[in-house]
Amino acid sequence: MPAAADAEGERLQKVLARAGFGSRRVCEDLIAEGRVLVDGEVAELGRRVDAETARILVDGAPVGVRPGLVHYLLNKPAGVVTTADDPQGRPIVVDLVPDEPRVFPVGRLDFDTEGLLLLTNDGDLANRLTHPSYGVEKEYVAQVEGTPSRAAVRRLREGVDLDDGPTAPAKVSLIEPSVLRLTIHEGRNRQVRRMCDAVGHPVVRLVRTRIGPLADRSLRPGTWRHLEVPELRSLERTVADEA
Ligand code: URA
Repeated sequence: MPAAADAEGERLQKVLARAGFGSRRVCEDLIAEGRVLVDGEVAELGRRVDAETARILVDGAPVGVRPGLVHYLLNKPAGVVTTADDPQGRPIVVDLVPDEPRVFPVGRLDFDTEGLLLLTNDGDLANRLTHPSYGVEKEYVAQVEGTPSRAAVRRLREGVDLDDGPTAPAKVSLIEPSVLRLTIHEGRNRQVRRMCDAVGHPVVRLVRTRIGPLADRSLRPGTWRHLEVPELRSLERTVADEA
């Protein structure tokens, strides 16, 4: 019964204002200009929505701030497992963020890998971010043994053969004699470590420095923060379906 649900819902401009699109007045203008779609239809002024279920897009980008959803950006330290539970009793990432509401990590970093990890209870966004068809870029800085030659860097860029198939082309540069910056858009198990092994330069230290549009050089290891609304919007834009 969408009509009844809508009549009981919140005013669309209120939902948009909460999601960071500006004051209610500004949000009314967005609606009046026909820039807001609700469940695939251009919204009229006065529209009410159930913010939990409505699929709202502004200028084609999904509005993802629904009540109850949280999105944490964590700087994972080494020596922590990316799961919600570890039978071996090792430290786990969910212990580094608030207990409630319960969140889960989006994708995974190895026990010894450091850097940015998203944790959320937003299952839809998490599925999109990890789905290979969206190919979200992840950037890593890898300290490796030895100094990779130009040929080794070229191989990493063009794709190396791993036991589960060749890797896709990647952006790779040598930023210091033993430090590589690699940007990949696949999410295979221990991929960066295996790529570096394959060219003869095992990883000594691995840090993820970017997930799609999310980067934060000032977030200290072991600490987290909420995503800001523009960050969330930009993340959602990266995994938005073609309209
Ligand atoms: N690649 C790896 O090898 N390890 C990670 O944790 C992430 C990417």
